[in-house]
Amino acid sequence: MTIKTVGVVGCGLMGSGIAQVCAASGYKTIVREVGDVVLQKGLGRVKKFLDDGVAKGKVAPEARDTTLANLSGTTTFEALKDCDLIIEAIVENLDEKRQIYAGLETVVGAHTIFLSNTSSLCITELAASTKRPDKFGGLHFFNPVPIMKLVEVIRALTTSDETYQTVFAFAQSLGKEPITAPDRPGFIVNRLLVPYLLDAIRAYENGLGTLEDIDKGMKLGCGYPMGPFTLLDFVGLDTTYYIANIMFEEFREPAYAPPPLLKRMVLAGRMGRKSGRGFYSYEK
Ligand code: CAA
Ligand code: NAD
Repeated sequence: MTIKTVGVVGCGLMGSGIAQVCAASGYKTIVREVGDVVLQKGLGRVKKFLDDGVAKGKVAPEARDTTLANLSGTTTFEALKDCDLIIEAIVENLDEKRQIYAGLETVVGAHTIFLSNTSSLCITELAASTKRPDKFGGLHFFNPVPIMKLVEVIRALTTSDETYQTVFAFAQSLGKEPITAPDRPGFIVNRLLVPYLLDAIRAYENGLGTLEDIDKGMKLGCGYPMGPFTLLDFVGLDTTYYIANIMFEEFREPAYAPPPLLKRMVLAGRMGRKSGRGFYSYEK
């Protein structure tokens, strides 16, 4: 199957990056948000990344202009009607995602493939909530999307061979390195990463050290690009909290249980970099 037009639903941290790499790879890309303010914020993030890339000599000015020309935004479902493939990257919530698929199904053709960028939800459950369980899969990108090379391709029990092969080839066409991951909570990477991040919060709550020292320890002692608290703020504490709840619900193992401090930080509106404050402050 030939993919020409790509839809992205959600233009937050992940959706904006996903829309950017699709547009940069030559796909006509339409990204949908719930409202104009949040849409313009997301599109602004794409433009800034490309402008910074030009300033750093990493992106050719013509490539930036072509990417921006391939990309458009919308707040309607109707604008996504001609998409061959749609990647959903909205909040990590089963009911919200189901509502998106139902809305999309009122406008798209029978051939359109639906993919979710979910970090932890069951792909088979998402697929089963649509009328196209054979044309549904997981395509899990990593943050920051334009820089991280990995993508996990996840088959639902119902995903057809043709859909899987099309999605794998599509991921390669974005310049990514796909791996095939099982439809289990957290797939491959988050299955290992999330318990580590949650354990860092528990250890901090138990007085292991300062945020700065724990971060410095993992960065300089293990060569990780970011310490756990810098990474938690980068991913988003709300998203991490949702992921932990979903993984704990399925595994019922203490390693996945959201630590009390994480819950309280989310309730206090400290979502990390995106809200200006998480474990660290980003307010200017
Ligand atoms: N345009 C083009 N290229 C750019 C760019 C731009 N605007 N900005 C940066 N780059 C390039 C840089 O030139 C550099 O390229 P080279 O390696 O070729 O020199 C590369 O991107 C890295 O950029 P920087 O050197 O400026 O930044 P850094 O070294 O501080 O790295 C980082 C930044 C890549 C984010 C790094 O800190 C990192 O890898 N952090 C960890 C990220 C991580 O773990 N992500 C996964 C989160 S979990 C997840 O996503 C899954 C989930 O479900 C929650
Ligand atoms: P985010 O909070 O930055 O963005 C979510 C966006 O979805 C918001 O802009 C919101 O307005 C929008 N949205 C909500 N409902 C919508 C709707 N009905 N239609 C269109 N847009 C809608 O979250 P994020 O970090 O981009 O995460 C999005 C998804 O990607 C989640 O499933 C998350 O688990 C997954 N993910 C996140 C990361 C990460 O590091 N943050 C990495 C990989 C995967």
